[in-house]
This record gives sequence, C-alpha cells and structure tokens, in this order.
Amino acid sequence: MKLPKYKCENCGYEESLDKNIYFCPRCGDPLTIVYDEDELHGISFKGKGVWRYKDVLPVSSEKPVTLNEGGTPLHQSVSLYKEIGIKELWIKNEGLNPTGSFKDRGMTVGVTRALELGARSVICASTGNTAASLSAYAARAGLRSYVVVPEGSIALGKLAQARAAGAKIVKVRGNFDYALKMVRTLATMTTETYLLNSVNPFRIEGQKTLAYEIIEEYGSPDWIFIPVGNAGNITALWKGLKELKSIGLLEKLPKLAGVQAEGASPIYRAFAEQKEEIIPIQNPQTVATAIKIGNPASWRRAMRAVKESGGVMLSVSDQEILEYQKKLSSKEGIFVEPASAASIAGLAKASLHNIVDKNDRVVAVVTGNGLKDPESLMKIDTEEVTIDADINELKKVINN
Ligand code: F0G
Repeated sequence: MKLPKYKCENCGYEESLDKNIYFCPRCGDPLTIVYDEDELHGISFKGKGVWRYKDVLPVSSEKPVTLNEGGTPLHQSVSLYKEIGIKELWIKNEGLNPTGSFKDRGMTVGVTRALELGARSVICASTGNTAASLSAYAARAGLRSYVVVPEGSIALGKLAQARAAGAKIVKVRGNFDYALKMVRTLATMTTETYLLNSVNPFRIEGQKTLAYEIIEEYGSPDWIFIPVGNAGNITALWKGLKELKSIGLLEKLPKLAGVQAEGASPIYRAFAEQKEEIIPIQNPQTVATAIKIGNPASWRRAMRAVKESGGVMLSVSDQEILEYQKKLSSKEGIFVEPASAASIAGLAKASLHNIVDKNDRVVAVVTGNGLKDPESLMKIDTEEVTIDADINELKKVINN
C-alpha cells in the first residue's frame, strides 16, 4: 500500500509522515493525514474497537497502547425521537469509552505514535477529558504526562482522573485558548514532549473510527449531530465518512450538524452570518465546560465539513443543554455530561426549525460520561425525601 502522508487541506502543502510536525509550515493550519483513494477501495476490517480499523490507521506498531477503546453502543431512542418529531434517533454513547469520553479513540493512536517517535513525555491543553484520557494512556505507555488546564474551569471527575493517573497538572490562570496557545508554542521548541491535542493528526485518525463504527453498524443516516468545541471531532467524523465512501462502504454521505454552546460559538456565528472567517470569542462562557472554547483550532476544517455535507452549525443555550442532559437520562437512561447533551439539544432545535425533516433518521453522538461532571444536576429539583428508618415511613412515600 502507498504510504499515507500529511496534507494541509487549507493550502495543499504535502509532507512525509517521517516528519514530526502538527501544523502546515506554509499557512499554519493543522495538518491532516491522507491516503491514496484507490488504495482505500475494497479494504475490509476484522477485530473489535478502534484497532479493527488498523489498516486505515497510520501507525505500524504491532503493540498499540490500548485500553480497548471504541466499540461503543449505538442505542435506539425509545422516547425522545417522538418528542423531537423525527422518524428514528440513534444515540452513539462515546461516554462508555475506557476513560469516559471519545478522546480515547484518538489517544490510543496518538500515544502509540509518541512511543514510535521515542518521545519522553506527552502534553496537552485541555478542558478536562483530553487530560483524563492522555494521562491514562501515558501511564500505560510508561510516559510522563503534563496536562495544562484552565484553573477553576474543569469538572471534578476529570481532574480526579488525571490526578489518579499521575499526570503533572498545570493550572493556568486563563482559559483553554491560552493553554492551547502555550502548548502549541512549546511543541515548536522541543521534540521530546509530544503534543497530543486534537491538532495532532494522529489523534484525528483514531477519532475517525467513530464514523466507521456508525456506518458499519447502522448504514447511512440522513444526519449526524455532534457537539463542537475545538472542532477536532467533527473534523475526524467527516474524514472517516469520506474514507468510507472511497472504500465503498457508504453510498450517500450524511449531513453533519455541529452544535456549539451559545456563549462559546464562534463557528456557529460565522456560519450563520455567512462569514469566511471566525471571530474568536475572548471570554467564552457555558455550563458545558468541555466545550468552553473561544478560538477553536480546527474551525476551518469544521466549517468545510459542515458545508461539504450540506449540513449546518447550530448553537444552544445552557438552559437547553441542561434540559436535554436531564431528558437523556430520564427518558432514555443515558447519563451524559453537559457538553454531550448539546447534540440532542441541537437536534431538538433543528427539528423545531424544520432543518431536519420528520422522516429523517438521525444519529446523535454523545461524547462524555455524566459521572465526570455531575455538579449541575445537584442543583435541580428532583423527587428527594429523607425519612426515618421505619417501614411505615417508607410505605408513605411509595404512591402508586
Ligand atoms: N464533548 C466533550 C465531552 C468534550 O470533552 C469535547 C472536547 C467536545 C465534546 C468537543 O470536541 O473539541 O473535538 O470539538 N474536549 C476537549 C478537551 C477540548 O480538552 O477535553 P472537539
């Protein structure tokens, strides 16, 4: 098979994968790894999870650093699809990956690459999940990990995961965008510390297996809805879908809907105003801390994906996010973190505005486990009572 190579989708620059680079030296956009289209045709897969797709993953190691990521369930909605007003809704539950988010798909490939390159340590900037995932995979690989996080803005569960795995946690007085800028600069100064944000093309490769799993299991839906923060995952999803078409496993590409939180929605704003460039948001705000990002590194690729697919960018309020986080649990039994509920909240909005049709079949990706970030749920009204340890008291509260 012809070797894959780096390509800049923005300006066309190409480079061999032997080089350890992340960004296009000509225009600065994150690089993508591309395969020869003819070589993809007819490829088949075996095994389970992310490594089922090893023939379309750009690492040669026979011993990947793995925690059996991928192979997450695709649940058919039993109730919300009716309320939302569509024919079928399927929920891809990425919160059931080993560290509780989709990040593991990219990290298994990224940390394997780090070992192949002989890196001594790995680093990321993170709103929490990347940090949790990176520190776990680094621990497994015997690599030192550094996670750079915005002070006070990351969910407790995620911080606990990174602490448990022994990462060095660097809290920055500033938001995620500053943290990412710093680690990007550091990556240009050293090759010993390997950068594993989603600007790393190898991480995108792992994450594209999300698309492979959806299509192999379900076929082609009319739409796929996905939350958007730094815009790596939507980039990976679209890349995977296009490869599936080249392989011959997919005839019609689905439309993509990328959903941002209202207070952190620069890509949505540019899309809605038909602007060519985003205007970064200096002080992003949302309850969905995972996607509290004002200057998404992969915004160009996200915008291209949405437009090429004939889809849309959407934004949802914190109130809508929390409403659908609760509904996913109370109507479907699926507990997700707030950022994940953005995809379903976005779908409800899209249905209301007739962006999706009542005959459409939709897959919504939920990206992270609710156990990571339960704080907002502790503030809502629920049916909770405290009683004495007395059977009569218990009988009184059972009212059916
Ligand atoms: N959902 C969750 C739960 C996330 O943690 C993230 C990103 C996203 C969605 C958005 O994905 O950035 O690829 O568009 N979290 C990153 C982190 C930024 O550091 O954990 P994206």
